[in-house]
Amino acid sequence: MSMVSPAAHPSPETAAHVGGAAIEISGLSKQFGAVKAVDGVSLSVQPGEFLALLGPSGSGKTSILMSIAGFELPDAGRISIDGKDVTYLPASQRNLGMVFQKYTLFPHLTVLDNVAFGLKMRGVARAERHKLAAQALATVRLDGYGARMPAQLSGGQQQRVALARAIVYRPKVLLMDEPLSALDKNLREEMQLEIKRLQSQLGITVVFVTHDQGEALTMADRVAILNQGRIQQLDAPRALYEKPQTRFVAGFIGETNFVPVQVGPLRPTGALVQMPGGVGAREVRSDALVGRIAANSAAVAAIRPEQITLGRMDDPAALQATVSGVIYSGSTVLCIAQLADGTELRARLPDPSRVAVSSGDRVGLLWPDDALRIYGDDVHGAPAR
Ligand SMILES: Nc1ncnc2c1ncn2[C@@H]1O[C@H](COP(=O)(O)OP(=O)(O)OP(=O)(O)O)[C@@H](O)[C@H]1O
Ligand SMILES: [Mg+2]
Repeated sequence: MSMVSPAAHPSPETAAHVGGAAIEISGLSKQFGAVKAVDGVSLSVQPGEFLALLGPSGSGKTSILMSIAGFELPDAGRISIDGKDVTYLPASQRNLGMVFQKYTLFPHLTVLDNVAFGLKMRGVARAERHKLAAQALATVRLDGYGARMPAQLSGGQQQRVALARAIVYRPKVLLMDEPLSALDKNLREEMQLEIKRLQSQLGITVVFVTHDQGEALTMADRVAILNQGRIQQLDAPRALYEKPQTRFVAGFIGETNFVPVQVGPLRPTGALVQMPGGVGAREVRSDALVGRIAANSAAVAAIRPEQITLGRMDDPAALQATVSGVIYSGSTVLCIAQLADGTELRARLPDPSRVAVSSGDRVGLLWPDDALRIYGDDVHGAPAR
């Protein structure tokens, strides 16, 4: 991948910093027949922030984006942009840039005319719109491509044209719905950097829909995790990974082991938790108890595979297990181990050259005290198990 610094492209002039608008959404709901596509979503996006909406298929991501854009009318709730209520404002008056998964360029227009098309509709004079379109093309590093037809561009270049078309009006908000999912992996990563660069150059607010967690975590300042039309958690990437607030988020972001546990008595500082397979109960601190946890009840423990290490069977702190599989995967080794009651745990071990276990070995599983999080019934009403 070649990254060219903006300084290497002195001409033509690129689009200047326009700044970003704040977006405020409160109590947004949208129902299609019996399906609650959006179910009481409230969120604020800061000016210039990059917010990702991440969630499984059908979780309501596009419906939220379309409501912000004005292409979908909500059943309830309010949306304001830059402090102005736009809930019922027609899409054409919101001045937002939009990029979709399909580039939908006009095949019979040149690249320059594709980018200038919207300006023409708005009555901008020819010389001016060509100047603005050329600037937008330079901003996405396609200067010199204006005379080509879309069919003469690669997929990534076509998506850049779509980006140029979205920013040519100098909007303060850019809405993107899975803009990179049609591209192959390398091009996708290149475009991820390109979009980040564009965003910081223009200072624009971005709301970016994706179902690719890697893309959301690397690109966004904050990520809203959606499930069934509701926000499960809205947080910075690191907080989502390290402190998931619901079991759904713990399972959705990264790899996680879920283990059935028995919660014992509650104490002011935490709870005693009994793992399956008989090591003594351990105290889990209050801040690692998530959702509604009752004394003397069943719950689910979550632990990341990379936090588990292998120790000796006779270590009193270790959970005894039998290795049932060892999978080499380049920089790490995945070790699958079974507890006496059949519960399976996965340990992702760094440094494959030093991993000397094989199927059938008896091992002790260890992890740091703060690696366990215990999930009771979650606040969205989903049972722990
Ligand atoms: N126009 C529509 N008519 C009927 N149902 C709809 C309509 N648009 C969305 N839905 C339903 O609303 C729910 C949310 O859809 P939405 O498109 O917002 O999900 P999404 O998170 O964008 O999913 P994907 O990742 O598949 O694009 C889904 O169950 C979907 O079937
Ligand atoms: Mg969608």
